[in-house]
Amino acid sequence: LMLVAGVPTASARTFTDPVAAKAEARRLGAPVVVKASGLAAGKGVIIAATLGEAENAIRQMLEGNAFGDAGHEVLVEEHMSGEEISVFALTDGTHVLPMIAAQDHKRIGEHDTGPNTGGMGAYAPVSIATDAIADAAVEGVFLPTLKAMRDAGSAFTGLLYAGLMLTNAGPMVVEFNCRFGDPETEALLPLMASSLLDPMLAIAAGESLAGASPLRWHGGAAVTTVVAAGGYPGAVKSGEPIALPATEPGVIVFHSGTRRSASGALVTAGGRVLAITALGATIAEAQCRSTSHAERVQFAGRQFRRDIGWRELARGARTS
Ligand code: GLY
Repeated sequence: LMLVAGVPTASARTFTDPVAAKAEARRLGAPVVVKASGLAAGKGVIIAATLGEAENAIRQMLEGNAFGDAGHEVLVEEHMSGEEISVFALTDGTHVLPMIAAQDHKRIGEHDTGPNTGGMGAYAPVSIATDAIADAAVEGVFLPTLKAMRDAGSAFTGLLYAGLMLTNAGPMVVEFNCRFGDPETEALLPLMASSLLDPMLAIAAGESLAGASPLRWHGGAAVTTVVAAGGYPGAVKSGEPIALPATEPGVIVFHSGTRRSASGALVTAGGRVLAITALGATIAEAQCRSTSHAERVQFAGRQFRRDIGWRELARGARTS
């Protein structure tokens, strides 16, 4: 669909035969991306720095069973370099109301090390997502994609999520999701000054967004820190009792992998347990509050990154 619509993205081919997949990896050269062609909870993407790593990933996905049904077909994809941002847009199928960009932190370890996860934290706004980038996302990605979907007889309405790599050649699509992103949404929505409900109701009622006012945003910044269970993104132990700190103004605790035990106690129930959003005048202030709140959450095996927003802070440090 992106090829038809002329939407910039990496070249990619799908394979079920490991020999052909490895030949494609050799043709593209390292670094090269190998993806399980199906849902893998954000973990089915290997950015192989060497051809050996790519071949291992292809072997594991196609010949092993690590990814279940999602691993019976793989994509071998050109590697794009740059920073990735997430841009969401509400759409009636033709017009879009774009949100400000957020940046996810997909790796488990600080400074983006270790395996991929569903997302260990996010912040907004992102200073490199300039007005020119926002325009390129609308004109070059959202509008042509929506037109191609209408032309295919499959108009999309709702919330479209574009994962964009900011390359030297401009924004290129890494992925689309037809849903809000997690944890980007936990950072974005507290910054939203206009109604989310009004455009969502209009879309649900089949009304046009032509002439709708652009979404409005508060100043300042939001940083969301995900508190995950020990072992995540691998197997985790659920049922660990959770102690939460007292509520704090400007800090919102979103529950994800939690439940009440039979006795009514709050316990862990999944990999990503909580997402802690803090608002602040700057990313640095919001990060400090978010991290400090996460620090005071207690349960056995708890893990979280203390560096959410580090790229933005490094940019600030370079320009100050
Ligand atoms: N944060 C990535 C996603 O929601 O897919």
